[in-house]
Amino acid sequence: MNIGNVIMTKRKELGLTQQALADKLGVSFQAVSKWEKGNTSPDLELIPRLAAELHTSSDALLGYEYKTHGYYDDRYKEDEYFWGIQPNETCLDIMKIKPPVKPLKVLDIGCGEGKDAVFFARNGYQVTAFDLSADGIEKGKRLAEKYGVDVNFFQADLNDYRLSENYDIIFSSGVFDYMKPELREEITQHLKEHTAEGGINAIKVFVDKPFIEVSDSKKKAYRYMWKSGEIFTYYHDWEISQMNEVIYDCNSGGVPHKHCIDIMIANKK
Ligand SMILES: C[S@@+](CC[C@H](N)C(=O)[O-])C[C@H]1O[C@@H](n2cnc3c(N)ncnc32)[C@H](O)[C@@H]1O
Repeated sequence: MNIGNVIMTKRKELGLTQQALADKLGVSFQAVSKWEKGNTSPDLELIPRLAAELHTSSDALLGYEYKTHGYYDDRYKEDEYFWGIQPNETCLDIMKIKPPVKPLKVLDIGCGEGKDAVFFARNGYQVTAFDLSADGIEKGKRLAEKYGVDVNFFQADLNDYRLSENYDIIFSSGVFDYMKPELREEITQHLKEHTAEGGINAIKVFVDKPFIEVSDSKKKAYRYMWKSGEIFTYYHDWEISQMNEVIYDCNSGGVPHKHCIDIMIANKK
């Protein structure tokens, strides 16, 4: 799809008129109309804001097709929620630290089928959530609809999506092992910079242990396990309020196996 088609499709999905979109961007409705007809293109500087208003990424706006790695798509295509719909227990810890007594903005990186994003939205947070899997995002949207809440869900790759606004809470569970190792420094720095003053980053990352086998070869693809304790080093200059390493049994996919995960909640002071 070209950019005009993407703009029109996303705008209609959100129930926005051309005028309403134009007002949000400070342009005329004729400009929006011309983009959609393919007569002109939006200025480059406008792309990140346009993407944010249309609840999508700049890449998707420009027609970039994501290469997903299949493992999760296969599971998310089923009607049943592969990860269930109960929130991750770290979400409850987050709520204790940052209760929704005022509108707080949450970003869920690698939100899967959206259970945590929807949980936050149901509790009054303003939630943005993305995942590489389009099937996961579709299920997240369905879950949000079921509970009558609004979540800004979109498809993006954490390796190339960059934030254009700040968040009070940046949360990611079981996803950073898909971050290319050479990007760890840059991306964690970027997330820290895009955390509001007094905000938190709550990250759960799978770590390598020589005695734990990664069983599924499809899942291994594009996966870069972290070293035990490594995530904490990127946050050495923040106050760490939770720092745990847990080994647990898992039965996802019907095959009993173990994981080791580092759990960190860090506060920007
Ligand atoms: C173990 S699941 C965790 C899902 C969710 N956070 C949860 O706890 O239910 C890992 C997720 O990472 C997503 N993922 C994998 N590579 C990604 C990437 N490069 N960018 C964004 N998401 C990615 C997968 O599609 C999958 O939904």
